[in-house]
Amino acid sequence: METREARIGIVGMGYVGLPLALLFSGERFRVTGFDIAEDKVAALNRGSSYIVRIPAEAIQEAQKSGFSATADYSLISQMDAVIICVPTPLDHHHEPDLSYVTGTVKSIAPHIHEGQLIALESTTYPGTTEEIVVPLLESGNPHGLKVARAINEPGIHVVFSPEREDPGNDSVARHDIPKVIGGCGPAATELASAMYSAIFRRVIPVRTPAVAEMTKLLENIYRCVNIALVNELKQLCMRMGIDIHEVIDAARTKPFGFQAFYPGPGLGGHCIPIDPFYLSWKAKEFDFRTRFIELAGEINTAMPYFVLEHTAAALNEHSKSIKGSKVLVLGLAYKRDIDDLRESPSLTIIELLREKGAIVAYNDPYFPKVGRGRHYDLNMTNTPLENLAKYDAVLIVTDHTSYNFPEIVEQSQLVVDTRNATKGIVSTKIVRC
Ligand SMILES: NC(=O)c1ccc[n+]([C@@H]2O[C@H](COP(=O)([O-])OP(=O)(O)OC[C@H]3O[C@@H](n4cnc5c(N)ncnc54)[C@H](O)[C@@H]3O)[C@@H](O)[C@H]2O)c1
Repeated sequence: METREARIGIVGMGYVGLPLALLFSGERFRVTGFDIAEDKVAALNRGSSYIVRIPAEAIQEAQKSGFSATADYSLISQMDAVIICVPTPLDHHHEPDLSYVTGTVKSIAPHIHEGQLIALESTTYPGTTEEIVVPLLESGNPHGLKVARAINEPGIHVVFSPEREDPGNDSVARHDIPKVIGGCGPAATELASAMYSAIFRRVIPVRTPAVAEMTKLLENIYRCVNIALVNELKQLCMRMGIDIHEVIDAARTKPFGFQAFYPGPGLGGHCIPIDPFYLSWKAKEFDFRTRFIELAGEINTAMPYFVLEHTAAALNEHSKSIKGSKVLVLGLAYKRDIDDLRESPSLTIIELLREKGAIVAYNDPYFPKVGRGRHYDLNMTNTPLENLAKYDAVLIVTDHTSYNFPEIVEQSQLVVDTRNATKGIVSTKIVRC
């Protein structure tokens, strides 16, 4: 690791795996990206990018350090370390879907070799590494390799090390985010610490993979529960005629014991709406109910319905019904300035508006069109941000910084703002919810 001779394979060239590959390349490691999506493999090998915030030049620069992509798992045998960054969604019953993790582990197991380091980064419930990954690796390799549990014991080295990326947040440089590592044995933790120290300033070793798995879930559940708290308080504040944003801004001046979270139209992204349910599912095995998670889930899931209700009320004030009204939804991405619409509340809000008979259009500079996803089927194309007066309501769901909100308010008949994007603008056309 120190001499950069180690070869690093990263499985899953998505929002997590690709930036990670570039970080290692930037530190002169020869990195191979593995992905089952042939189009991604081809794009990367052409030197192009499919993630907006990663420029093609960054891929081309990495290629100079030996970066390439492949769908051929037999190349795993040439790697010294393999890092797994594949999706961990929920299935239709809201239960963990580990099929991407198990599929990956089954595919790499025949090609692993003595001394190799295997790190799982995908967010998951405590126990996944020891109960799922290790048995599949041990039973799936033809050499009878086992996980090394003690220093100098032969075998493979397995760790869990959670990804902590926050897309679109540039306030902390990636290498300043400490990396938590929990190995199946001390040698595994030591090896992974050597590898991750090349790209992160600080590594935090913990005693077991389960501690590392639980650490990631605690971080995300903390966010989920606190967002639910402010979402609930927003609803109370609205009834009481108090501006929740003013309250939060005042509270955050307290120099200790308070961290600001902001209300919104509902949770989005691959992590916060999903990960807590990995823990509540696992907790059932221990005859335990995670009530905070369930309550937070209930409040956060209801937010798009709350937005619908307030859009209807706002239209009602203009003597209009939702049925037949033209509504322009601003922003599809689940948060500002990113090109990711996974679990985005905009998708649910559009579906709810359509169900009620609204004629819905959307504008989002990051999405020229939106088709079908796991939980939606919209089949829409981006509408230019013009002729806003023709819409009965303009509904701000994502506050991209490219939007000129004073102009939007100026040109619209009615603006429903779910993000406090119109803060400071005084107009009777604005309804904040
Ligand atoms: N996106 C984030 O901000 C973020 C932050 C922290 C943690 N995470 C976690 O990281 C993990 C990955 O998330 P992501 O956002 O990068 O997902 P993603 O969907 O962007 O990327 C996953 C990639 O894995 C590939 N893949 C799927 N199955 C594969 C297989 N069997 N072999 C090889 N490639 C395969 C997919 O084609 C895709 O390119 C998840 O567990 C997620 O919860 C994500």
